[in-house]
Amino acid sequence: MNKITIAIDGFSSTGKSTVAKQLAKYLSYIYVDTGAMYRAVTFYAMENGLISATDFNSEALIYQLPNIKINFKFNEALGFAEVYLNNVNIEKQIRTLEVSSFVSKVASISEVRRKLVEQQQEMGKDKGVVMDGRDIGTVVFPDAELKLFMTASAETRAERRYQELIERGDQVEYKDVLKNVQERDYIDSNREDSPLVKADDAIEIDNSHMTLEEQFNKIFQLAKMTIEDY
Ligand code: DC
Repeated sequence: MNKITIAIDGFSSTGKSTVAKQLAKYLSYIYVDTGAMYRAVTFYAMENGLISATDFNSEALIYQLPNIKINFKFNEALGFAEVYLNNVNIEKQIRTLEVSSFVSKVASISEVRRKLVEQQQEMGKDKGVVMDGRDIGTVVFPDAELKLFMTASAETRAERRYQELIERGDQVEYKDVLKNVQERDYIDSNREDSPLVKADDAIEIDNSHMTLEEQFNKIFQLAKMTIEDY
């Protein structure tokens, strides 16, 4: 069976990674969470004192980019690949609200984008990949055979994210999570380099009122049809 490239873009907390992971598993494709890569660079910047609530030394970050090595290793028990920064597993550390609050700034730096896009293109060069992010169908793989663009209201997304953080044991308030979702939407959609936009040929999926199962079934059918036609 021929392998295709599946690009899943959309706003934060639209459940892109959940559906992308499931899809990759069913199709035996590689799953790449590109948001994790931007989060890893952000975590590096935080750990090295380059970014804080009051300060962002973007020049130093650009200078230090060659020292940042990001890769994924499949975790059999979890059933998905976890992200490593310079050979250290940072999967948990990159999901905090603090990283979320800085990541859009880091992701708006062209030099950071160039480095990560190159790595993403290399990871998907043999197809058989499900990649999620913001610019996959527009910049990373503009020729992807299947492009999906996921949306849901900011409130629905903030509620989902809030529940996830609470379940992890994080002390957060819903209003702060909503504010973060809205701020990231704004920065991601308005940055100069590769802003979040729906590719002309992407299929839009608003999952505000869909269960995970309904959403997966719809997307799985789309993927099967695309593979058969390819
Ligand atoms: O998908 P996520 O919420 O983990 O992504 C974190 C941030 O990274 C998000 O605010 C925007 C940025 N991002 C990006 O600019 N381009 C991508 N391909 C993926 C993520």
